[in-house]
Amino acid sequence: MREILIQNAQLVNEGELCQKDLLIRGEKIAKISHHIAPTGSEELIDATGLHLLPGWIDDQVHFREPGLTHKATIASESRAAVAGGITSFIEMPNTNPQTTTQNALEDKLDRAAKTSIANYGFLFGGTNDNLEEIKTFDTTQAAGLKLFWGSSTGNMLVDDEQVLQKIFSSTDIPIAVHCEDENTIRKNLAEHIAQYGDDIPIEKHPEIRSEAACYRSSSRAIHLAKATGARLHVFHLSTAIETELFSNEKPLAEKKITAEVCVHHLWFSEEDYAQKGTLIKWNPAVKKASDREALWKALNEDKIDVLATDHAPHTLEEKQNPYTKAPSGGPLVQHAYVALLTAVQQGKTSLEKLVEKACHNPAILFKIQNRGFLREGYFADLVLVDLNKKHTVVKEDLRYQCGWSPFEGTTFGATIIKTFVNGNLVYDDGEIIESALGKKLTFDR
Ligand code: DOR
Repeated sequence: MREILIQNAQLVNEGELCQKDLLIRGEKIAKISHHIAPTGSEELIDATGLHLLPGWIDDQVHFREPGLTHKATIASESRAAVAGGITSFIEMPNTNPQTTTQNALEDKLDRAAKTSIANYGFLFGGTNDNLEEIKTFDTTQAAGLKLFWGSSTGNMLVDDEQVLQKIFSSTDIPIAVHCEDENTIRKNLAEHIAQYGDDIPIEKHPEIRSEAACYRSSSRAIHLAKATGARLHVFHLSTAIETELFSNEKPLAEKKITAEVCVHHLWFSEEDYAQKGTLIKWNPAVKKASDREALWKALNEDKIDVLATDHAPHTLEEKQNPYTKAPSGGPLVQHAYVALLTAVQQGKTSLEKLVEKACHNPAILFKIQNRGFLREGYFADLVLVDLNKKHTVVKEDLRYQCGWSPFEGTTFGATIIKTFVNGNLVYDDGEIIESALGKKLTFDR
Protein backbone atom coordinates (compact mmCIF):
# COMPACT_ATOMS: atom_id res chain seq x y z
CA MET A 1 0.00 0.00 0.00
CA ARG A 2 1.22 3.50 -0.83
CA GLU A 3 2.89 5.35 2.05
CA ILE A 4 3.69 9.03 2.47
CA LEU A 5 5.79 10.23 5.40
CA ILE A 6 5.38 13.87 6.36
CA GLN A 7 8.38 14.85 8.45
CA ASN A 8 9.09 17.69 10.87
CA ALA A 9 5.72 19.43 10.65
CA GLN A 10 4.18 21.45 13.47
CA LEU A 11 1.02 19.42 14.12
CA VAL A 12 -2.01 21.31 15.41
CA ASN A 13 -4.47 18.90 16.96
CA GLU A 14 -6.67 18.43 20.02
CA GLY A 15 -5.44 21.51 21.83
CA GLU A 16 -1.75 20.89 21.16
CA LEU A 17 0.88 22.32 18.88
CA CYS A 18 3.88 20.04 18.62
CA GLN A 19 6.54 19.02 16.08
CA LYS A 20 5.85 15.47 14.87
CA ASP A 21 6.06 13.14 11.89
CA LEU A 22 2.91 11.66 10.36
CA LEU A 23 2.74 8.53 8.20
CA ILE A 24 -0.07 8.09 5.68
CA ARG A 25 -0.75 4.52 4.56
CA GLY A 26 -3.39 4.22 1.85
CA GLU A 27 -6.40 6.31 2.93
CA LYS A 28 -5.58 6.51 6.60
CA ILE A 29 -3.19 8.00 9.11
CA ALA A 30 -1.03 5.01 10.08
CA LYS A 31 1.23 6.62 12.66
CA ILE A 32 1.93 9.91 14.43
CA SER A 33 5.11 10.17 16.44
CA HIS A 34 7.95 12.52 17.39
CA HIS A 35 10.18 10.63 14.97
CA ILE A 36 9.22 8.02 12.40
CA ALA A 37 12.22 6.39 10.75
CA PRO A 38 11.80 6.08 6.96
CA THR A 39 11.99 2.54 5.63
CA GLY A 40 12.92 3.59 2.12
CA SER A 41 9.60 2.68 0.52
CA GLU A 42 7.63 5.83 1.46
CA GLU A 43 7.35 9.11 -0.38
CA LEU A 44 8.97 11.70 1.88
CA ILE A 45 7.69 15.22 2.41
CA ASP A 46 9.95 17.51 4.39
CA ALA A 47 7.53 19.84 6.14
CA THR A 48 10.11 21.77 8.15
CA GLY A 49 8.69 25.23 8.87
CA LEU A 50 5.15 24.20 7.90
CA HIS A 51 2.05 23.46 9.99
CA LEU A 52 0.01 20.29 9.50
CA LEU A 53 -3.70 20.68 10.32
CA PRO A 54 -6.75 18.48 9.91
CA GLY A 55 -8.78 19.42 6.85
CA TRP A 56 -11.68 21.76 7.64
CA ILE A 57 -15.08 20.05 7.71
CA ASP A 58 -17.32 22.83 6.41
CA ASP A 59 -20.85 22.01 7.57
CA GLN A 60 -22.57 24.77 5.60
CA VAL A 61 -22.05 25.19 1.85
CA HIS A 62 -24.29 25.81 -1.15
CA PHE A 63 -22.85 24.12 -4.25
CA ARG A 64 -26.00 24.79 -6.37
CA GLU A 65 -26.38 21.38 -7.96
CA PRO A 66 -28.87 20.36 -9.25
CA GLY A 67 -30.74 23.19 -10.90
CA LEU A 68 -28.62 26.26 -10.27
CA THR A 69 -25.50 25.18 -12.13
CA HIS A 70 -25.11 28.54 -13.86
CA LYS A 71 -23.81 29.65 -10.43
CA ALA A 72 -21.68 26.65 -9.42
CA THR A 73 -21.39 22.86 -9.49
CA ILE A 74 -20.25 20.24 -7.00
CA ALA A 75 -17.25 19.66 -9.28
CA SER A 76 -16.15 23.31 -9.41
CA GLU A 77 -16.75 24.25 -5.78
CA SER A 78 -15.28 21.06 -4.27
CA ARG A 79 -12.05 21.85 -6.13
CA ALA A 80 -12.09 25.40 -4.77
CA ALA A 81 -12.68 23.88 -1.32
CA VAL A 82 -9.62 21.59 -1.38
CA ALA A 83 -7.50 24.47 -2.73
CA GLY A 84 -8.56 26.21 0.47
CA GLY A 85 -7.90 23.28 2.83
CA ILE A 86 -11.53 22.21 3.20
CA THR A 87 -11.52 18.45 2.80
CA SER A 88 -15.17 17.64 3.64
CA PHE A 89 -18.37 19.59 3.16
CA ILE A 90 -22.03 19.36 4.12
CA GLU A 91 -24.21 20.90 1.45
CA MET A 92 -27.56 22.69 1.82
CA PRO A 93 -30.97 21.64 0.44
CA ASN A 94 -31.95 24.89 -1.35
CA THR A 95 -31.17 23.54 -4.79
CA ASN A 96 -33.66 22.87 -7.58
CA PRO A 97 -35.28 20.47 -6.93
CA GLN A 98 -34.94 21.03 -3.22
CA THR A 99 -33.45 18.20 -1.17
CA THR A 100 -36.73 17.42 0.55
CA THR A 101 -37.32 13.84 -0.57
CA GLN A 102 -35.33 10.61 -0.35
CA ASN A 103 -34.98 10.60 -4.16
CA ALA A 104 -33.55 14.12 -4.24
CA LEU A 105 -31.07 13.19 -1.50
CA GLU A 106 -29.96 10.09 -3.38
CA ASP A 107 -29.59 12.10 -6.58
CA LYS A 108 -27.23 14.52 -4.82
CA LEU A 109 -25.22 11.67 -3.32
CA ASP A 110 -24.89 10.13 -6.80
CA ARG A 111 -23.80 13.41 -8.33
CA ALA A 112 -21.19 14.01 -5.62
CA ALA A 113 -19.87 10.44 -5.94
CA LYS A 114 -19.16 11.15 -9.62
CA THR A 115 -17.59 14.62 -9.37
CA SER A 116 -16.63 15.74 -5.85
CA ILE A 117 -12.93 15.85 -5.08
CA ALA A 118 -13.73 16.51 -1.39
CA ASN A 119 -15.68 14.26 0.99
CA TYR A 120 -19.37 15.07 0.92
CA GLY A 121 -22.54 15.00 2.96
CA PHE A 122 -25.94 16.69 2.69
CA LEU A 123 -28.63 18.16 4.88
CA PHE A 124 -32.22 17.09 4.22
CA GLY A 125 -34.56 20.08 3.87
CA GLY A 126 -37.67 20.62 5.96
CA THR A 127 -40.59 22.61 4.54
CA ASN A 128 -44.12 23.46 5.62
CA ASP A 129 -45.36 20.31 3.89
CA ASN A 130 -42.85 17.44 3.90
CA LEU A 131 -43.31 16.09 7.42
CA GLU A 132 -43.94 12.55 6.11
CA GLU A 133 -40.66 12.60 4.18
CA ILE A 134 -38.84 13.87 7.26
CA LYS A 135 -40.23 11.01 9.31
CA THR A 136 -39.42 8.32 6.76
CA PHE A 137 -36.21 9.25 4.93
CA ASP A 138 -33.07 7.20 5.56
CA THR A 139 -31.31 9.27 8.22
CA THR A 140 -28.05 7.36 7.80
CA GLN A 141 -27.75 9.08 4.40
CA ALA A 142 -27.89 12.69 5.62
CA ALA A 143 -25.90 14.70 8.15
CA GLY A 144 -29.08 16.20 9.57
CA LEU A 145 -32.04 18.43 8.79
CA LYS A 146 -31.96 22.03 7.58
CA LEU A 147 -34.74 24.51 8.19
CA PHE A 148 -34.95 28.02 6.79
CA TRP A 149 -36.79 29.71 9.68
CA GLY A 150 -36.41 32.93 7.72
CA SER A 151 -36.50 33.09 3.93
CA SER A 152 -33.39 33.25 1.78
CA THR A 153 -32.28 31.96 -1.61
CA GLY A 154 -34.61 29.17 -2.79
CA ASN A 155 -38.04 29.80 -1.18
CA MET A 156 -37.70 27.23 1.60
CA LEU A 157 -39.26 29.22 4.43
CA VAL A 158 -40.78 27.07 7.20
CA ASP A 159 -43.03 29.32 9.24
CA ASP A 160 -45.97 27.14 10.27
CA GLU A 161 -45.63 26.89 14.07
CA GLN A 162 -47.43 23.55 14.23
CA VAL A 163 -45.20 22.07 11.56
CA LEU A 164 -42.09 23.34 13.35
CA GLN A 165 -43.31 21.78 16.58
CA LYS A 166 -43.87 18.44 14.81
CA ILE A 167 -40.50 18.54 13.02
CA PHE A 168 -38.65 19.31 16.26
CA SER A 169 -40.49 16.44 17.98
CA SER A 170 -40.01 13.96 15.14
CA THR A 171 -36.27 13.38 14.97
CA ASP A 172 -33.14 13.16 17.08
CA ILE A 173 -30.69 13.94 14.27
CA PRO A 174 -29.22 17.48 14.32
CA ILE A 175 -31.62 20.18 13.12
CA ALA A 176 -29.63 23.07 11.66
CA VAL A 177 -31.64 26.26 11.44
CA HIS A 178 -31.29 29.56 9.60
CA CYS A 179 -32.78 31.96 12.16
CA GLU A 180 -34.18 35.30 10.98
CA ASP A 181 -37.72 36.36 11.83
CA GLU A 182 -39.69 36.70 8.60
CA ASN A 183 -42.33 39.17 9.86
CA THR A 184 -39.68 41.55 11.13
CA ILE A 185 -37.77 41.38 7.84
CA ARG A 186 -40.91 41.92 5.73
CA LYS A 187 -41.93 44.96 7.75
CA ASN A 188 -38.43 46.48 7.60
CA LEU A 189 -38.15 45.80 3.88
CA ALA A 190 -41.53 47.37 3.12
CA GLU A 191 -40.54 50.53 5.01
CA HIS A 192 -37.27 50.79 3.12
CA ILE A 193 -38.89 50.16 -0.27
CA ALA A 194 -41.42 52.91 0.52
CA GLN A 195 -38.51 55.28 1.09
CA TYR A 196 -35.98 54.21 -1.57
CA GLY A 197 -37.72 51.98 -4.12
CA ASP A 198 -35.62 49.01 -5.36
CA ASP A 199 -32.32 50.80 -5.03
CA ILE A 200 -32.04 50.69 -1.24
CA PRO A 201 -28.49 51.65 -0.15
CA ILE A 202 -26.67 48.43 0.80
CA GLU A 203 -25.72 50.02 4.15
CA LYS A 204 -29.39 49.57 5.11
CA HIS A 205 -29.17 45.76 4.77
CA PRO A 206 -28.46 45.25 8.52
CA GLU A 207 -31.45 47.46 9.34
CA ILE A 208 -33.71 45.26 7.18
CA ARG A 209 -32.18 41.90 8.13
CA SER A 210 -31.94 43.36 11.62
CA GLU A 211 -30.53 42.34 14.98
CA ALA A 212 -34.11 42.02 16.26
CA ALA A 213 -35.00 39.63 13.42
CA CYS A 214 -32.06 37.40 14.32
CA TYR A 215 -32.64 37.50 18.06
CA ARG A 216 -36.38 36.81 17.85
CA SER A 217 -35.92 33.82 15.62
CA SER A 218 -32.93 32.30 17.46
CA SER A 219 -34.79 32.70 20.78
CA ARG A 220 -37.87 30.95 19.40
CA ALA A 221 -35.84 28.09 17.99
CA ILE A 222 -34.09 27.61 21.33
CA HIS A 223 -37.39 27.76 23.17
CA LEU A 224 -38.84 25.07 20.91
CA ALA A 225 -35.73 22.90 21.20
CA LYS A 226 -35.90 23.06 24.97
CA ALA A 227 -39.61 22.19 24.92
CA THR A 228 -39.20 19.23 22.56
CA GLY A 229 -35.70 17.99 23.42
CA ALA A 230 -34.58 18.41 19.80
CA ARG A 231 -30.89 18.59 18.85
CA LEU A 232 -30.70 22.18 17.59
CA HIS A 233 -27.77 23.76 15.79
CA VAL A 234 -28.22 27.47 15.03
CA PHE A 235 -26.35 28.43 11.90
CA HIS A 236 -24.46 31.68 11.24
CA LEU A 237 -24.89 33.87 14.33
CA SER A 238 -24.34 37.51 13.36
CA THR A 239 -25.14 39.57 16.47
CA ALA A 240 -23.69 40.09 19.93
CA ILE A 241 -27.06 39.68 21.59
CA GLU A 242 -27.63 36.16 20.17
CA THR A 243 -24.37 34.93 21.68
CA GLU A 244 -25.98 35.39 25.11
CA LEU A 245 -28.49 32.68 24.27
CA PHE A 246 -25.83 29.95 24.23
CA SER A 247 -24.01 28.21 27.03
CA ASN A 248 -20.48 26.89 27.55
CA GLU A 249 -21.30 24.90 30.64
CA LYS A 250 -21.15 21.47 28.98
CA PRO A 251 -18.69 19.94 26.53
CA LEU A 252 -19.94 19.88 22.93
CA ALA A 253 -20.75 16.15 22.92
CA GLU A 254 -23.26 16.72 25.73
CA LYS A 255 -24.88 19.90 24.38
CA LYS A 256 -28.37 19.74 22.86
CA ILE A 257 -28.24 23.34 21.61
CA THR A 258 -25.24 24.65 19.71
CA ALA A 259 -24.25 27.63 17.61
CA GLU A 260 -22.11 28.42 14.63
CA VAL A 261 -20.40 31.48 13.20
CA CYS A 262 -19.28 32.05 9.62
CA VAL A 263 -16.09 33.52 8.25
CA HIS A 264 -17.73 36.61 6.75
CA HIS A 265 -19.33 37.62 10.04
CA LEU A 266 -15.91 37.36 11.68
CA TRP A 267 -14.07 39.22 8.92
CA PHE A 268 -16.31 42.00 7.62
CA SER A 269 -18.35 44.68 9.40
CA GLU A 270 -20.86 47.27 8.25
CA GLU A 271 -17.95 49.62 7.56
CA ASP A 272 -17.11 47.42 4.54
CA TYR A 273 -20.41 48.00 2.70
CA ALA A 274 -19.15 51.31 1.26
CA GLN A 275 -16.31 49.56 -0.58
CA LYS A 276 -17.72 46.08 -1.24
CA GLY A 277 -21.39 46.93 -1.89
CA THR A 278 -23.72 43.99 -2.60
CA LEU A 279 -20.71 41.62 -2.90
CA ILE A 280 -20.97 41.34 0.89
CA LYS A 281 -24.76 41.11 1.00
CA TRP A 282 -25.46 38.01 3.05
CA ASN A 283 -28.40 36.62 4.99
CA PRO A 284 -28.03 37.17 7.89
CA ALA A 285 -26.43 40.54 7.21
CA VAL A 286 -22.91 41.52 8.19
CA LYS A 287 -23.51 43.85 11.15
CA LYS A 288 -21.52 46.17 13.44
CA ALA A 289 -17.85 45.89 14.39
CA SER A 290 -19.04 45.43 17.98
CA ASP A 291 -21.09 42.38 16.87
CA ARG A 292 -18.01 40.96 15.18
CA GLU A 293 -15.97 41.38 18.38
CA ALA A 294 -18.70 39.67 20.43
CA LEU A 295 -18.77 36.75 17.97
CA TRP A 296 -15.00 36.28 18.39
CA LYS A 297 -15.42 36.42 22.17
CA ALA A 298 -18.22 33.83 22.14
CA LEU A 299 -16.14 31.57 19.88
CA ASN A 300 -13.16 31.79 22.21
CA GLU A 301 -15.39 31.16 25.24
CA ASP A 302 -17.01 28.09 23.61
CA LYS A 303 -20.50 29.59 23.49
CA ILE A 304 -20.10 29.20 19.73
CA ASP A 305 -19.07 25.68 18.78
CA VAL A 306 -18.48 25.55 15.03
CA LEU A 307 -16.88 27.59 12.26
CA ALA A 308 -18.33 27.36 8.76
CA THR A 309 -18.39 29.32 5.51
CA ASP A 310 -21.99 29.39 4.23
CA HIS A 311 -20.25 29.40 0.82
CA ALA A 312 -23.08 30.64 -1.43
CA PRO A 313 -21.95 31.59 -4.94
CA HIS A 314 -24.00 33.76 -7.28
CA THR A 315 -22.86 35.20 -10.61
CA LEU A 316 -21.29 38.64 -10.59
CA GLU A 317 -24.07 39.82 -12.89
CA GLU A 318 -26.69 38.71 -10.34
CA LYS A 319 -24.80 40.33 -7.46
CA GLN A 320 -24.53 43.66 -9.29
CA ASN A 321 -28.30 44.17 -9.39
CA PRO A 322 -29.94 46.89 -7.26
CA TYR A 323 -30.50 45.95 -3.60
CA THR A 324 -33.87 44.19 -3.85
CA LYS A 325 -32.76 42.08 -6.84
CA ALA A 326 -29.19 41.29 -5.75
CA PRO A 327 -29.12 37.80 -4.20
CA SER A 328 -27.49 37.26 -0.81
CA GLY A 329 -24.40 35.08 -0.49
CA GLY A 330 -20.87 34.85 -1.79
CA PRO A 331 -18.12 32.32 -2.48
CA LEU A 332 -15.79 31.60 0.47
CA VAL A 333 -14.43 28.05 0.57
CA GLN A 334 -11.13 28.83 -1.13
CA HIS A 335 -10.15 31.50 1.39
CA ALA A 336 -11.86 30.62 4.66
CA TYR A 337 -8.90 28.78 6.21
CA VAL A 338 -6.29 31.35 5.18
CA ALA A 339 -8.56 34.18 6.35
CA LEU A 340 -8.87 32.63 9.79
CA LEU A 341 -5.18 31.71 9.94
CA THR A 342 -4.58 35.41 9.29
CA ALA A 343 -7.01 36.21 12.12
CA VAL A 344 -4.92 33.92 14.35
CA GLN A 345 -1.87 35.98 13.40
CA GLN A 346 -3.84 39.11 14.37
CA GLY A 347 -4.44 37.62 17.82
CA LYS A 348 -8.20 37.03 17.42
CA THR A 349 -7.97 33.36 18.44
CA SER A 350 -5.41 30.57 18.67
CA LEU A 351 -4.42 27.97 16.10
CA GLU A 352 -5.67 25.25 18.43
CA LYS A 353 -9.08 26.94 18.80
CA LEU A 354 -9.38 27.38 15.03
CA VAL A 355 -8.74 23.67 14.47
CA GLU A 356 -11.16 22.73 17.26
CA LYS A 357 -14.01 24.79 15.76
CA ALA A 358 -13.40 24.11 12.07
CA CYS A 359 -12.30 20.47 12.16
CA HIS A 360 -12.93 18.64 15.44
CA ASN A 361 -16.31 20.11 16.37
CA PRO A 362 -18.24 19.53 13.11
CA ALA A 363 -17.13 15.88 13.37
CA ILE A 364 -18.36 15.66 16.98
CA LEU A 365 -21.61 17.52 16.34
CA PHE A 366 -22.70 15.54 13.28
CA LYS A 367 -21.12 12.30 14.57
CA ILE A 368 -18.97 12.01 11.45
CA GLN A 369 -16.98 8.80 11.56
CA ASN A 370 -13.16 8.80 11.60
CA ARG A 371 -12.55 12.34 10.44
CA GLY A 372 -11.81 15.78 11.83
CA PHE A 373 -8.79 14.83 13.96
CA LEU A 374 -5.16 13.85 13.40
CA ARG A 375 -5.48 10.38 14.89
CA GLU A 376 -4.01 7.02 13.96
CA GLY A 377 -6.68 5.00 12.13
CA TYR A 378 -8.56 8.12 10.98
CA PHE A 379 -8.81 9.18 7.34
CA ALA A 380 -5.81 11.22 6.22
CA ASP A 381 -7.64 14.50 5.49
CA LEU A 382 -4.78 16.91 5.97
CA VAL A 383 -3.62 20.41 5.15
CA LEU A 384 -0.05 21.67 5.08
CA VAL A 385 0.10 25.44 5.54
CA ASP A 386 2.87 28.00 5.48
CA LEU A 387 2.22 30.65 8.11
CA ASN A 388 5.11 32.72 6.80
CA LYS A 389 3.98 32.92 3.19
CA LYS A 390 1.69 35.84 2.42
CA HIS A 391 -0.45 35.96 -0.69
CA THR A 392 -2.86 38.39 -2.26
CA VAL A 393 -6.18 37.17 -3.68
CA VAL A 394 -6.32 37.85 -7.43
CA LYS A 395 -9.02 36.94 -9.94
CA GLU A 396 -6.75 34.64 -11.97
CA ASP A 397 -6.28 32.31 -8.99
CA LEU A 398 -9.97 31.90 -8.19
CA ARG A 399 -11.40 28.42 -8.66
CA TYR A 400 -15.06 29.32 -8.20
CA GLN A 401 -17.21 28.92 -11.27
CA CYS A 402 -18.66 32.40 -10.58
CA GLY A 403 -15.16 33.88 -10.97
CA TRP A 404 -15.22 36.50 -8.20
CA SER A 405 -14.45 36.70 -4.48
CA PRO A 406 -15.30 39.20 -1.75
CA PHE A 407 -11.62 38.91 -0.78
CA GLU A 408 -10.11 40.11 -4.10
CA GLY A 409 -7.22 42.44 -3.29
CA THR A 410 -6.90 41.12 0.28
CA THR A 411 -3.47 39.95 1.42
CA PHE A 412 -3.55 36.94 3.74
CA GLY A 413 -0.66 36.04 6.02
CA ALA A 414 -0.79 32.29 5.30
CA THR A 415 -0.84 30.03 2.25
CA ILE A 416 -2.19 26.50 1.76
CA ILE A 417 0.68 24.41 0.39
CA LYS A 418 -0.80 20.88 0.09
CA THR A 419 -4.16 19.26 0.77
CA PHE A 420 -4.73 15.52 1.21
CA VAL A 421 -8.19 13.91 1.05
CA ASN A 422 -8.32 10.25 2.16
CA GLY A 423 -4.53 10.09 1.85
CA ASN A 424 -4.55 11.38 -1.74
CA LEU A 425 -2.69 14.56 -2.59
CA VAL A 426 -5.41 16.62 -4.30
CA TYR A 427 -3.89 20.10 -4.13
CA ASP A 428 -0.22 20.92 -4.46
CA ASP A 429 1.23 24.42 -4.55
CA GLY A 430 -1.45 26.05 -6.67
CA GLU A 431 -2.44 22.98 -8.71
CA ILE A 432 -5.42 20.65 -8.33
CA ILE A 433 -4.23 17.04 -8.66
CA GLU A 434 -6.94 14.78 -10.05
CA SER A 435 -5.68 11.75 -8.13
CA ALA A 436 -8.97 10.51 -6.64
CA LEU A 437 -12.52 11.55 -5.82
CA GLY A 438 -13.84 12.18 -2.29
CA LYS A 439 -15.95 9.80 -0.24
CA LYS A 440 -19.39 9.97 1.28
CA LEU A 441 -19.32 11.06 4.91
CA THR A 442 -20.68 8.42 7.27
CA PHE A 443 -22.31 9.07 10.62
CA ASP A 444 -22.60 7.24 13.92
CA ARG A 445 -26.34 6.72 14.14
O1 DOR B 1 -26.62 34.73 2.18
C1 DOR B 1 -27.15 33.63 2.07
N1 DOR B 1 -27.12 32.97 0.90
N2 DOR B 1 -27.77 33.08 3.11
C2 DOR B 1 -28.50 31.95 3.00
O2 DOR B 1 -29.06 31.53 3.96
C3 DOR B 1 -28.66 31.29 1.70
C4 DOR B 1 -27.53 31.62 0.82
C5 DOR B 1 -27.80 31.18 -0.61
O3 DOR B 1 -28.17 30.04 -0.82
O4 DOR B 1 -27.61 32.00 -1.51
